[in-house]
Amino acid sequence: MKKQLEKIFNSAVLDIEKATSTEDIEDIKLKYLSRKGELNSIKKNLKDLSEEDKRVVGAFANDIAQKLEDSVKEKYNLIYRKELDVKLQQEKIDITLPGKFIPQGKVHPLTVTTNEIISIFQSLGFSLVQSVNSPEVETEHFNFDMLNFPPDHPAKDMQDTYYTNIAKNVVLRSQTSNAQVREMENNKPPVRVIAPGRVYRNEAVNSRKNNFFHQIEGLYVDKDITFGDLKGVLNEFIRLYFGSSRVTRFRNSFFPFTEPSAEVDVQCIICGGDGCRTCSNTGWLEILGAGMVDVNVLKNCEIDPEVYTGFAFGMGVERLTMLKYAVDDIRLFFNNDVRFLTQF
Ligand code: DAH
Repeated sequence: MKKQLEKIFNSAVLDIEKATSTEDIEDIKLKYLSRKGELNSIKKNLKDLSEEDKRVVGAFANDIAQKLEDSVKEKYNLIYRKELDVKLQQEKIDITLPGKFIPQGKVHPLTVTTNEIISIFQSLGFSLVQSVNSPEVETEHFNFDMLNFPPDHPAKDMQDTYYTNIAKNVVLRSQTSNAQVREMENNKPPVRVIAPGRVYRNEAVNSRKNNFFHQIEGLYVDKDITFGDLKGVLNEFIRLYFGSSRVTRFRNSFFPFTEPSAEVDVQCIICGGDGCRTCSNTGWLEILGAGMVDVNVLKNCEIDPEVYTGFAFGMGVERLTMLKYAVDDIRLFFNNDVRFLTQF
């Protein structure tokens, strides 16, 4: 039995010497030192020996077990340290390396401006129109007729407006004013909304004109609304959007759906009013059209003009963005050149 134990010991010592990984060590532990290992299976036979032999052989077996355990532990520590060194070497991080550049998207400048204008009007008590009341594909009925355009108005010409082949009289809306009509048809006064959106016009594209652009329409209908209210709201908008130092003027104008009508100009930010190419040497740039809602439009929407009055306005988002950030070409907004877009 002692011989058997010696044999096991020698074979275990050899295995330990040969071991090169922590897994090898685990295998050795299992093979020799575990409950079902070789040492234990020998020890089980101790009961068949005489008392004297039991003591001597038992002590020998324990001694062997202790020695093996010690050298397994020693070898394990050695291997573990080596493996750790390799791992540390492999996973070394050079913290002096520059980081990886991750390109980040930006909000489009027209969206920035639109959001700013919306929040200004919200602070003045306007709410956003429901999108169902402001469709981009529209009938002539809502885009023109209900807004008091005469049947032979030049804006209705195919030269100016995009007609679709969906059906006769279906156009890409040329103005967000269609939202006024739908809003008044679907809601009783007081109505106080803004309607931002895209509009389309059959224009030759140049630095000042694109064949689609964006407008923000406003409408306020209630009892006792006056032109003074219109001026108050628009002046406050201009002060909040451009700052109080920007000089503006109201100018008499005409629109089929407002009476009286006005246009608002701001002093040209390129030349400061002296006259340049951008402002066609006038020193002024128009930013919006406005006026008191025409009696005919109220009647078309079944609102009693004896009881209610209202004002409306429509402004160009591209124009307002160009004037705020001194952008001199409208096409820059649509070319998607990131060198331009990331500046905002
Ligand atoms: N719809 C006009 C346009 O596109 C702008 C406009 C003028 C809107 C006067 C209005 C308004 O609501 O009252 O040129």
